[in-house]
Amino acid sequence: MQALVLREDSFLLETVVKPTLKPQQALIKIYYAALNHRDQWIRDGQYAKIQLPAILGSDGCGEVIEVSEKENENWLGKTVIINPNIDWGNNPNVQSKDFQILGMPTQGTLAEFVVVDIDRLLEKPNYLSNEQAAGLPLGGLTAFNALFNKGKVEKGMNVLISGVGGGVAQFAFLFAVAAGANVYVSSGKQAVIDTCKTLGAKDGANYKETNAVKNLGKSVGGFDIIIDSACGDGMNELLGTLKPCGKFVFYGATRGLPKDLNMRQIFWGHLQVLGSTMGSDIDFAKMVQFCEQHQLQPIIDKIFDFENSVAAFDRMKEGAQFGKIIVNVNH
Ligand SMILES: NC(=O)c1ccc[n+]([C@@H]2O[C@H](COP(=O)([O-])OP(=O)(O)OC[C@H]3O[C@@H](n4cnc5c(N)ncnc54)[C@H](OP(=O)(O)O)[C@@H]3O)[C@@H](O)[C@H]2O)c1
Repeated sequence: MQALVLREDSFLLETVVKPTLKPQQALIKIYYAALNHRDQWIRDGQYAKIQLPAILGSDGCGEVIEVSEKENENWLGKTVIINPNIDWGNNPNVQSKDFQILGMPTQGTLAEFVVVDIDRLLEKPNYLSNEQAAGLPLGGLTAFNALFNKGKVEKGMNVLISGVGGGVAQFAFLFAVAAGANVYVSSGKQAVIDTCKTLGAKDGANYKETNAVKNLGKSVGGFDIIIDSACGDGMNELLGTLKPCGKFVFYGATRGLPKDLNMRQIFWGHLQVLGSTMGSDIDFAKMVQFCEQHQLQPIIDKIFDFENSVAAFDRMKEGAQFGKIIVNVNH
């Protein structure tokens, strides 16, 4: 089969051996895969415990073409999405020490075929196209946990989705609007802010403009929740826009550590700074159900042919996207 293989010195489509099934597994013919920033971090050598060669990709939608047991034959021919959690464990609040994410060290979805455990499969919701469905799993799960379990969003709350152009952030945005919050956005791109306003954002600010986010916060009486993945030096400004007892929920630190963190601002404001990582299998099922209930359509940035997968990664590296970057593997 063809797969995008990351090696020390190359990142190319290669012909590799098609994976075989172990008990309670299924072989999926991938229609579409989707990128997450994790894939680009790994490509750049900026991720923990990288094992090469690797076939990346945590997200995918495809058809079940083989199962290892007769009792699972009802899956054959079904179009599915894949829960990218491996061994989340029994505690819904935090992953187990054995936790892994599909795609490095296990083989990922940027390949014509992938083998996953049968309990990772979920039938594709009918209302989604195959390419939309491919973009849902990891980003949707991360956004769902951050917004609902950590942020505890409620109708009427002021919520800021920071860097809304990101693959996860756009889900947090769609979910917060569907939950009835007053949703505000920040982005480095005016066009993204303008589109979000047509999709339910109350207002937005460009984080590249000095004080723009701070002024937005002031103008709305502060935010109850901020969902962020950038951190870095902008974190103090963001914390300053929270209402007393407000929550800063972050699931990444794309901009790295802040040089200084204003601790007084945090304790004086009774602020909560909450880390979040993906979500449990229960959250995964709830997230898909929530999307179905509200008929939420993942925002797709661009679809690349499999042969142009590296260009898809370059687009993510550049930060040019709005929403999910999809790769057409086999369709
Ligand atoms: N912990 C977890 O479970 C988990 C899960 C998924 C992702 N992550 C991490 O979360 C981060 C985002 O992942 P992703 O897949 O959504 O990546 P992505 O699609 O590449 O999105 C990154 C976004 O970050 C935004 N950004 C860049 N600089 C910013 C700044 N100074 N302030 C605010 N926003 C800024 C940009 O938004 P605009 O385009 O709007 O400017 C950009 O689109 C990555 O660091 C990733 O590793 C963690």
